[in-house]
Amino acid sequence: MSKIEIRNLVKRYGQATALNKVSLTIESGEFLVLLGPSGCGKTTLLRCLAGLETPDEGEIVIDDHIVYSSEKKVLVPPGKRNLGMVFQSYALWPHMTVRDNVKFGLDVLHTPKDVSNQRIDQVLADIGLAHLDERYPSELSGGQQQRVALARLLTTKPPVFLMDEPLSNLDARLRMDMRVELKRIQGETGATTVYVTHDQTEAMTMSTRVVVMKDGDIQQVSPPGLVYRQPENVFVAEFIGMPLINLTELEHVDGSLFSNGDITLNLGWQPDVAKIVVGARPEDLKLGPARKDSAEFTVTALLPNGPETIVQMTRGTTVLVARLGHETGLETGQTIHVSFETEALNVYDASTGAMVRRPRTQGLPSLTKSIAPATGRNRNELVGT
Ligand SMILES: Nc1ncnc2c1ncn2[C@@H]1O[C@H](COP(=O)(O)OP(=O)(O)OP(=O)(O)O)[C@@H](O)[C@H]1O
Ligand SMILES: [Mg+2]
Repeated sequence: MSKIEIRNLVKRYGQATALNKVSLTIESGEFLVLLGPSGCGKTTLLRCLAGLETPDEGEIVIDDHIVYSSEKKVLVPPGKRNLGMVFQSYALWPHMTVRDNVKFGLDVLHTPKDVSNQRIDQVLADIGLAHLDERYPSELSGGQQQRVALARLLTTKPPVFLMDEPLSNLDARLRMDMRVELKRIQGETGATTVYVTHDQTEAMTMSTRVVVMKDGDIQQVSPPGLVYRQPENVFVAEFIGMPLINLTELEHVDGSLFSNGDITLNLGWQPDVAKIVVGARPEDLKLGPARKDSAEFTVTALLPNGPETIVQMTRGTTVLVARLGHETGLETGQTIHVSFETEALNVYDASTGAMVRRPRTQGLPSLTKSIAPATGRNRNELVGT
């Protein structure tokens, strides 16, 4: 178990900045997932932690030991950082069998032979490779090779796991099984884990916290539920979740009313900006008969997808997407009345993309009312204009 502190880390490649003053504390035993579009700096950050890349500025501290500091001129080599890694390329020895590849990590640590053999058997069984232990890497599929690389990491039980898309080459079914296995092994060993993935489901299901990155900057660090429910800015809101969040730009009309000509929304409070972007998840739209706070839309597409159906609706130039159960009873072209789920909306400043927080309009809850939220949100009312 190890705690990792990253302070103002900068990594440049020529003119390009891959990491732009990244600061992050990773708690001992945490399963931290780095998520973000291609090229945002996930692998670079992991490689800097591992010591495979030398940053230009900043500091990395693992369990109170400085392993990198530009100011103090410290650079601890990878082998002395006590970390285990699995990277995007698996780096298996081609002339060694699966068992010998896995054993290699243990041999480096001078692990006694009986302990070594027992652990290898266990891990190979856990990740479904026991029957392939005498094969060579060239005789394995990409997914099998990836699992050998994982086995090599897991058998050595390092206090820190660094994993760069370790399941990317597995099919959907195997990926699911491996998520469960990895999470179990991580839980058992208590290893502090930094895990890079493109896969949001992986991030959401495995992490204790998600770090969303963009262009070498951290955008948000939150538990997965919060990243989904309360994205800090428009970028995170749009990056997380499939189908995409509904982002609708509205201008201030009067008081708490905002409109884009097609719809007028009564937020129930007044953000201090002239133009807002309202974020509503597809499941936060309510469809049904006309209500005081609903607006009439036309169904423009129905996309059934197993247990759910994605419904696209249009009013003027405003397009909204809702997520419903598999039997919607709707037809393309029909009109439908739409309102927003109260409490669920996030409001962003259209010019900066940053979340606009609702000011506290009520005092702190008294002891007798401690169950009630401190700031009850008013109904967000949506009306056609
Ligand atoms: N060795 C290198 N030389 C020059 N530029 C590099 C090098 N390694 C990475 N970069 C650049 O640094 C940026 C961050 O790259 P990085 O590999 O960390 O992205 P990533 O988030 O892991 O992306 P992906 O999801 O595609 O793996 C990119 O713009 C990339 O082109
Ligand atoms: Mg990468």
